Amino acid sequence: MFESLKRLFRGPSVRIQGVDKLPEGESKKISLGDPLAGGAEVILCRRGGRLFAVDVRCPHEGGRIVDGPLREGRYVVCPLHNYKFDPETGRALGVACKDARTYRVSEQGRDCEIFL
Ligand code: FES
Repeated sequence: MFESLKRLFRGPSVRIQGVDKLPEGESKKISLGDPLAGGAEVILCRRGGRLFAVDVRCPHEGGRIVDGPLREGRYVVCPLHNYKFDPETGRALGVACKDARTYRVSEQGRDCEIFL
């Protein structure tokens, strides 16, 4: 019952195991189900000891934000036009562009929950 109420207020979530192994300044692409059926593909990254999740769809011109080491240890990047995005806010740096979509992440021990 409590779990149902939590889900009602927070929306659906996906639990990802073993995220404690993601090192500081790194990111990893994770599939959270079919995007056409309410899922998403996200870049999960660790910065400042915290986890952040950014949708892979670039808000600029439909490119894909990629995983790997964070640029300057802080930003995720879309290589199509080399735009950098803050994974915490989704904001593009130094360019006029819509924000990338971000997802709330709750880290619990070795795992995390990403709220869609
Ligand atoms: S499409 Fe991503 S930076 Fe242009």
